[in-house]
Amino acid sequence: MNIRIISMMLVMMLTSLTSHAQLSTEAQAVISNIMTRASVRGFVEKPVEQDKIDIMLRAAMAAPTDKNMQPWHFIVLNTPDAIAQYAGEGRHAERMKKTPLIIVVCADTTRMQDGEVRNIWVQDISAATENLLLAAHALQLGAVWTTIYPLAQRIEGVQKKLNLPANLIPMCAIRIGYPNPERPAQPKDKWDENKVTYFTVKK
Ligand SMILES: Cc1cc2nc3c(=O)[nH]c(=O)nc-3n(C[C@H](O)[C@H](O)[C@H](O)COP(=O)(O)O)c2cc1C
Repeated sequence: MNIRIISMMLVMMLTSLTSHAQLSTEAQAVISNIMTRASVRGFVEKPVEQDKIDIMLRAAMAAPTDKNMQPWHFIVLNTPDAIAQYAGEGRHAERMKKTPLIIVVCADTTRMQDGEVRNIWVQDISAATENLLLAAHALQLGAVWTTIYPLAQRIEGVQKKLNLPANLIPMCAIRIGYPNPERPAQPKDKWDENKVTYFTVKK
C-alpha cells in the first residue's frame, strides 16, 4: 500500500481516537503532534529559520529534569561549514552534509549529581531531546535522533571535530530540516496492549 495512504489512515485513526475521548482542540493538537511524529531522514535544501531554532531550543529546555539540574547544552550547527565539519569524511558524510541544521545535544558534567544518581543525566538529556523532536514536528520540520553516546569512538570523534570543552559529553545529534516530499516519513502505529500491565493487589 502507498505510504501516503497508510499515513492518512493512521492520522484518521488517531483523529477519531482523540475525538472519542472528547478532548479539547488544544489537547487534540498536542496528542496528534505526538502520534504523527516520525523520523525524517531526507531534507530539501532550505535553511531552518532562526525563530524556529529558538522555539525548538526553548521546548528542549522545558523538559523535566531531576532535581532541576538542567544538565544540557546544545551545539547548533546551522552553516554549511559547521555541518561539513561535523559530517567529516566517514561513510555517512555526504548524507550528513545535506542536512540543513544539526543540533548536538550534550550533557554538562559540571551540572551532574554525585554518587548513585550521577547517570540520571541520560534521562534528562533524553527528555530534552524528545521535546526538541516534537517541537520540530509541530513546526512542520522533519528531524531524526542520531546516536553518539554511549559509543566511545563517536563521543571522542564529535568532541574533537567540534572542539568541545572537556565538560561536555555529546549524547546525540538531531538532524533537522524541511522534509523531502519524495522521502515521506511514515508514522508507525506502535500501540501494543501486551506491553501494558495494570498491577492489581490480590486480596
Ligand atoms: C536513542 C535513539 C537513537 C537513535 N539513533 C538513530 C541513528 O543513529 N540513526 C537513525 O537514522 N535513527 C536513529 N534513531 C531513530 C530510530 O531509528 C526511530 O526513532 C525508530 O526507528 C522509530 O521510528 P520513528 O521515530 O519514525 O517512530 C534513534 C532513536 C533513538 C530514540
